Amino acid sequence: MEALRLVLLYVHLIGFALLLGGAVAQYVSGRLRINAAMLWGSVIQLLTGLGLSAPLRDGDEPAPAKLVTKLVLALLIFVMVFFSRKRAQVARGHFLAIIGLTLVTAAVAVFWR
Ligand code: HEM
Repeated sequence: MEALRLVLLYVHLIGFALLLGGAVAQYVSGRLRINAAMLWGSVIQLLTGLGLSAPLRDGDEPAPAKLVTKLVLALLIFVMVFFSRKRAQVARGHFLAIIGLTLVTAAVAVFWR
């Protein structure tokens, strides 16, 4: 079970890298569009996050309130990435909100103990 949890955590961190890295790279390039890395990253975060929420540890599970908070934030990011009106040209506020929500979700992951 511990091996499965570590594999899920590893893929979860790769998903985080794709989502945040894809968005920041796109932002600094000056063309505000939703790229494939962001699409994949948001899906990977939801799937691996749900997997990680299974009781895979012997005790010491994360608080349910933390998981629900992350789920709500990740669903918001998923909707904003997949159902943005035009993926090829996104409003600056919408794009910055995706980056901001991703940073907030990572902060919840790290600081909520
Ligand atoms: C964009 C969305 C997400 C981001 C940026 C994110 C970020 C992270 C990061 C950086 C870690 C590593 C923290 C550590 O091990 O100290 C982590 C772990 C974890 N994440 Fe996520 N996550 C996201 C979505 C989700 C979702 C939707 C769930 C489940 C509902 C989830 C559940 C977990 C769990 C169970 C862990 C294991 C460690 C712990 O919470 O203490 N994550 N996440």
